[in-house]
Amino acid sequence: MNFMSPDTVYAQASNSRQGLPAWTYNNAELTDLEINNIFLKTWLWAGHVSEISKVGDYQCMELAHERAIIIRGEDGVVRAFHNVCNHRASRVVPDDKGHCRNALVCPFHGWSYHLDGRLKNIPRAETFPAMDKSALGLKPIECEVWHGMIFIRFFGSGPSVAETLKDAEEEISLYKIEHMQPLVEPWTTEFNCDWKSIVDIDSEGYHVPMGHKDLYDLLGRSYYDQVLNDEVSRSYGNIDAGKHKSQLNQDYVNTLPQESYLPATHQREWIYWSAFPGFVITLFPDQIEIYHSYPISFQKSAMAGRSYALTDERPEMKSAREYNRQINIIVGQEDVQLLKWSAEGMRSSAYNGAIMSDLEVGTAAFHNQLRSTVPVALLDVPPPAGTLGQVNQQMVKEN
Ligand code: FES
Ligand SMILES: [Fe+2]
Repeated sequence: MNFMSPDTVYAQASNSRQGLPAWTYNNAELTDLEINNIFLKTWLWAGHVSEISKVGDYQCMELAHERAIIIRGEDGVVRAFHNVCNHRASRVVPDDKGHCRNALVCPFHGWSYHLDGRLKNIPRAETFPAMDKSALGLKPIECEVWHGMIFIRFFGSGPSVAETLKDAEEEISLYKIEHMQPLVEPWTTEFNCDWKSIVDIDSEGYHVPMGHKDLYDLLGRSYYDQVLNDEVSRSYGNIDAGKHKSQLNQDYVNTLPQESYLPATHQREWIYWSAFPGFVITLFPDQIEIYHSYPISFQKSAMAGRSYALTDERPEMKSAREYNRQINIIVGQEDVQLLKWSAEGMRSSAYNGAIMSDLEVGTAAFHNQLRSTVPVALLDVPPPAGTLGQVNQQMVKEN
C-alpha cells in the first residue's frame, strides 16, 4: 500500500497547517449543505447482514429528513427503500427493526408492499381514481453489501464501496466479517457540536499519549496513522508485549488467545480503517467494531456503532472480548471529554485556526476531502447569510 506523506497531504491545503476555518464548525447553512451534498450522496454504513438474517427481517436508519428501511427479500437479497408510504408519507414500518411476515403494511391506512418493494394491496382500492400500481412501489435506495457490512447511498453516484475501500480489501477479508454476529447492543452517542469535530479527533493519534494514557500503555509508541488518499485512512497499533501499568490492559494481554484464522501479522494488532465522511471499522484480533459519525442538525451530531465477532466459546476469548470492550469504553469517554473541550473552544472568538503536526495528517486529509466536496469551506470567512449554497455552487463550477 502506498501512503501519502504529510507534505503531500498538506500541499493540497496550500501548505496551510491551520485546518478548516473556525466558522465552518459553527454555521447552520453549511451543516445543511454538508447533509445534502455529502451525507445524502455518499455511502452510509447501515448495519450488518446478521442483523437481518431471515427473509422479512428489516432495520431502519435515518439521516436528517431522510429515512430508509433495509430489508431482506424472499430471494434472500438485501435491499433498501425510502421508508415513506406512497399514500400519505407515513413510515411503512413502525419500529427501528423487526420482521415482516410477507408484506410491509403501512400502519396509517394499511397500504401493503411486497418485501421487494412492489405495491401489494390498497384497502378500499375502488375509492381511488385509476392508478398504475406498478409505479407505486417503495422508492429504492442504492444498497451494497461488502464483507457482510451493509451500506446505503440515498442519492448521487460514484464509486462503489468495494471500489472506495479496495486497498483495505486484503486486510479486511482476513477477519471473516460476513460470518460475524453482533457482540453487544448497538450504541449511539449524541454531541452538541459540529460533526466535523468528531471526525477531527477521531482521525489522528497525536492525542493518544496524552489523551488516552491507558491506550498508550497498551499500544506503546507503535500507534500511527496512514493516509491512503483523501477519502481512506488506516491507523495501526501493535499491542505492546511488555508489562502494562493498567491492570485492565495486562488482563487483556494475558487472556487474549490466538485466532486460528488470522496470520501472525494480525494476532496482536489493533487496526482502524476509516472512509470519508465518517465511517470507521476497527479490527481487533478478538472482535471488530464498526461505527460512524454524522450530523443530526446544526450543532447536533452523533456517533453510532456496534461490535461484532465470530462465534467463539473459549472462556479466555470471552474474557478478552470483555476486557477489550472495557478498554474501549474508557477511550470513548476520554474522547467525549476532549471533543467537548475542543469543540467549545472552536466557537470562541479566541480561536484563529489550528496548528497541525505531521501526526495529524489523517485530520488534514479529512479537511482536504471536505474542501473538495464543499469548496465553500475554502473561504476564510463565511459568505453573507442566505448565500452559502449559491456561493458554494459557483465555486464548484469554477473548480
Ligand atoms: S400513509 Fe400509508 S397507507 Fe396511508
Ligand atoms: Fe481519541
